[in-house]
Amino acid sequence: MERKADIETLFRIFRSVSKSVHTSTSVGEVLDLVVRGTAEALHAMGSILRILNLRTDEFELNAAYGLSEKYLTKGHVIRKTLYVGKIHEKGAIIISNVETDPRVQYPREAREEGIKMMLDLPLILADDVVGLIRVFFPETREFSREELEFAEAIAEECAYVIDKAMLIERQRVDYHQLAVKTEKLSSLGRLAAGIAHEINNPLAAILLYGTSMLKEVPPESPHKEGLEIIVHETVRCRGIIQELLEFSREKESRKVPVNVNKIIEKALTILENEFRLRRICVEKDLSDNLPEIPLDVNQMEQVFINFLVNAMEAIPGEGSVTIRTSEDEDGRGLVIEIEDNGIGISDEYKDRIFEPFFSSKPKGTGLGLPVNFGIVEKHQGRIDVFSELGQGTRMVVWLPCVEGGA
Ligand SMILES: Nc1ncnc2c1ncn2[C@@H]1O[C@H](COP(=O)(O)OP(=O)(O)OP(=O)(O)O)[C@@H](O)[C@H]1O
Ligand SMILES: [Mg+2]
Repeated sequence: MERKADIETLFRIFRSVSKSVHTSTSVGEVLDLVVRGTAEALHAMGSILRILNLRTDEFELNAAYGLSEKYLTKGHVIRKTLYVGKIHEKGAIIISNVETDPRVQYPREAREEGIKMMLDLPLILADDVVGLIRVFFPETREFSREELEFAEAIAEECAYVIDKAMLIERQRVDYHQLAVKTEKLSSLGRLAAGIAHEINNPLAAILLYGTSMLKEVPPESPHKEGLEIIVHETVRCRGIIQELLEFSREKESRKVPVNVNKIIEKALTILENEFRLRRICVEKDLSDNLPEIPLDVNQMEQVFINFLVNAMEAIPGEGSVTIRTSEDEDGRGLVIEIEDNGIGISDEYKDRIFEPFFSSKPKGTGLGLPVNFGIVEKHQGRIDVFSELGQGTRMVVWLPCVEGGA
């Protein structure tokens, strides 16, 4: 018996998919709704959604509805079988002979599943196929114009979701690489500067005494050659130390007068999608009459990103992060608070969180807070931590309004 969908049902299902596309932050949830909605609307036995993995050139299964485990795990689906190269025509493709159509890679499995007909809906972004929705039917049938239009519109919505998800993923990767790089660099810079300062003085002493002893020993002395080596190697070490100091001087802050709210807004924009995906609500309470203060914009942006990432990582499910700015009571500095209602910090950890490489996270590097500490210190500022286990954490940064005003 042939069953066609009525327009009311098509509209209802399309509306719910479309609403979810524009409101949901979970791509998986939307794609599940897409396969179920498409199958139900078209009275199909099931439907699957595959996204093309450009690295392997295979269509990977991302969502499925109504098909057996056995059919779903039948094997890889390579790109060539489905489409070759670019395709310019959007629109549904009807596969009415499952047994012979070359686009069906597993005809035997399809037969065993009771599939007689398929409807392919390519997901296209800028002329490239990025994925495919395939709908399965137990008998051959005709499709009404409304049904095909519905299916194509669903495919367009779906391509939009994938595009959005890919964009978010790219931003996440970019941000992560950037954060890792700057953190490593600035901690290396501080380490280098620390070592260089410590070694510079003893080295100067060795060089001084070495040179004067070398002047005093007679040419035939058995110590002469040894002393020459000491002086030569010490000069070499001094060169290396100078280079290290040079490197760390480059990392000195470049401060310009700026409104700290601007830097916070920028950090929040970078993390916007991350917060949305994690369903963490960000509350801003930024004072609108802050004076401009001398800050290194890039370094301070890194500071706020580190605090905000820690705050979001401390929230296991849904939660909220609040960021507040204000001028302190005597007008000498600004106060920036980053507060979360996450897991909090145990007393045992409280003393250690600013130690380089201390991390309670499986994938943490433990450099976020030490880097923040270094940067805030360079601005003659201060960080205070208030945390209650199981309640949340508040990081309070104080920055002076004028340089050296601590
Ligand atoms: N807002 C917070 N809530 C709870 N714990 C926190 C918070 N901020 C920091 N911590 C604790 O301090 C530790 C050190 O933080 P830090 O940012 O230095 O390193 P990390 O976040 O573990 O790793 P990464 O180098 O990726 O930032 C964290 O592992 C965590 O235990
Ligand atoms: Mg961190």
